[in-house]
Amino acid sequence: MVSITNVRTSNATLKNGPSGLVAVFVGATSGIGLGTLKAFAKSTQEPTAYIVGRSEKAAAALLEELQKSNPQGTFHFIESEISLIKNVDAVCEEVKSKESKVDILFMSPGYLSFDGRTGESYDANNLPGVRAAANSPTESPEGIDIPHALRLYSRLRFAYNLMPLLKTSNTGGRVISILAGGQESPLDVDDLEVRNDFTFMKAATNGTTQTTLALEELAKANPTVTFIHKYPGFVNTGVVDRLLRTAPGLFWYPAAAVRWLVVPVVNLFSMTVTEAGERGLFLSTSARYPPSSQTKAEQGYGIAPLPKGVDVAKSSVVQEDGTGNGVYRVGPTDDNAGDDKVLGPYRKDGTSTKVWESILSVWERAVARA
Ligand SMILES: NC(=O)c1ccc[n+]([C@@H]2O[C@H](COP(=O)([O-])OP(=O)(O)OC[C@H]3O[C@@H](n4cnc5c(N)ncnc54)[C@H](OP(=O)(O)O)[C@@H]3O)[C@@H](O)[C@H]2O)c1
Repeated sequence: MVSITNVRTSNATLKNGPSGLVAVFVGATSGIGLGTLKAFAKSTQEPTAYIVGRSEKAAAALLEELQKSNPQGTFHFIESEISLIKNVDAVCEEVKSKESKVDILFMSPGYLSFDGRTGESYDANNLPGVRAAANSPTESPEGIDIPHALRLYSRLRFAYNLMPLLKTSNTGGRVISILAGGQESPLDVDDLEVRNDFTFMKAATNGTTQTTLALEELAKANPTVTFIHKYPGFVNTGVVDRLLRTAPGLFWYPAAAVRWLVVPVVNLFSMTVTEAGERGLFLSTSARYPPSSQTKAEQGYGIAPLPKGVDVAKSSVVQEDGTGNGVYRVGPTDDNAGDDKVLGPYRKDGTSTKVWESILSVWERAVARA
């Protein structure tokens, strides 16, 4: 476990760290992404942040707050519905046209819902209880379940498209996906797109396992970039409340009871968005998470040096000579997730390659339909 004191010590060094860091935030208009964006804005020197979200109007107050927190910062909002791969491509082109490097790509977009496979975007500004209509399409115009696009296909597309800029970072580019690193479970390898017997749990766990395997594939080709897949634990962002609002039919009543009676109690013990954000900035900058090319350096490699007593984290795969793959599965307090029984065989039996090829084919189909 990395204590919050050590996280804060590390983040405090950024005031004297490199100036002009460039970060792209996807899903940072609320929750863990928002906490991290605010921490990044106020803690770094002359930062530039691209904030990708669905409503520039709704983000006006946030942009003002960020600018006030750091008058030397530059904050761009890019309005886009990024469950569509073609929109992800357009956003990345915009960033590439303005920047020659990206230091941090921080991704946390998405939502949970009891709805089946869905092709309608959930409207976070239109609560309560907005759910896909009974006759709503079962996939996006690009053929993907929208929550699955947000947790998996769109996030990886950002990483893939921005890789040339991440590789140009002179502090070591970082890709961070906030989902459920360390919670990987067996995949239905014949149904990687979750088309059969769809449940939101099946889709969520499938997205978790595929995320780690896909990040490992990306890391093989990009050893100067760090990849982090984090399970944040329970953070008080309202995510569970919003999930329960989508309970169907008669399940709505027990779900409402849980929302009113149980969730407020659980919230008392959950992590605050502020702490989750401080931890998000730590993941984005600390020498605890070096890329593969630097894993054998004793002092770590990153923007912020290791605080006293904090070690370099263990990569998800470590070779016999001690070289790590630069991929980290981390838990709520930024500790290493335990050894995994699920991923080991998948790395050897060709499932990793199958996962990556499936992702490429989903992208190809999506872009062809655009
Ligand atoms: N919070 C927790 O306790 C917890 C626990 C485990 C895992 N997680 C996972 O961690 C990630 C971040 O969680 P969070 O609680 O910080 O999320 P959150 O507060 O619900 O934020 C989700 C973000 O997703 C963005 N988004 C983009 N496209 C969207 C679309 N089509 N529909 C809905 N939202 C869209 C929203 O931005 P715009 O509205 O501006 O587009 C919003 O900023 C999620 O993947 C979540 O499943 C969270």
